Amino acid sequence: MDTIQIKDKKFAVSITEQEILREVTRVANEINRDLAGKNPLFLSVLNGSFMFTADLMKRITIPCEISFVKLASYQGVSSTGVIKEVIGINEDLTDRTIVIVEDIVDTGLTMQRLLENIGTRNPKEIHIASLLVKPDKLKVALNIEYAAMNIPNDFIVGYGLDYDGFGRNYPDIYTVVE
Ligand code: IMP
Repeated sequence: MDTIQIKDKKFAVSITEQEILREVTRVANEINRDLAGKNPLFLSVLNGSFMFTADLMKRITIPCEISFVKLASYQGVSSTGVIKEVIGINEDLTDRTIVIVEDIVDTGLTMQRLLENIGTRNPKEIHIASLLVKPDKLKVALNIEYAAMNIPNDFIVGYGLDYDGFGRNYPDIYTVVE
C-alpha cells in the first residue's frame, strides 16, 4: 500500500519496513556494544513505541529487563496546561541503567518530563532510544544517544504511531500528504 486514508487525511509511504529494520538493527548493535555488563532496564513508553520496542528487543543480545510505562495526560493548573503523569513504574530503579524507549521525539517536552520523573528514582544512568527524532522541532536540549532516524517536521503515522488513534498497525511509516 503506497497511500492510505485515515479520517480526513491522506498519507504516503515515506520509510519502508525494510529501511526501519535496518536502522533498528544498527541501534540495537550500538546498545549491545555500549551497555554490555550493565544489565539495563528498558522502559518502553506505550502506546506508540510497541512495534519499535518489539523489533529492538529481538536484537538486544545482552542480559536485560524490560518494562512498560504510560503517560497519562490531564489538564492541570500549571501555566503550560497539559500535564503528563508517568504511570506503571513498579520496579526499583535505584542504581539501574535505564534505557527509555520512545517512538518519536518532537518538541522533546514529553521526554524531558520522563527524564525528570525517572531521575527522582535514583537510577545510575539514563539513556534515550527513540525510533524517530524531528530535530528542527526540538525545544529542549536532549542527549538522544540512540536515534534510529531523523525526519523532517511533517506528521507521520504507522509502525506504532497514530493519527487520532488510527494507523498504528501499518508496518511502514507514512507521511501526511497536503
Ligand atoms: P513531544 O512532547 O512534542 O516530543 O511529543 C512526543 C509525542 O507526540 C510522541 O510520543 C507522539 O505520541 C506524538 N507525536 C509527535 N509527532 C508525531 C507524529 O508525527 N505522528 C504521530 N505522533 C506524533
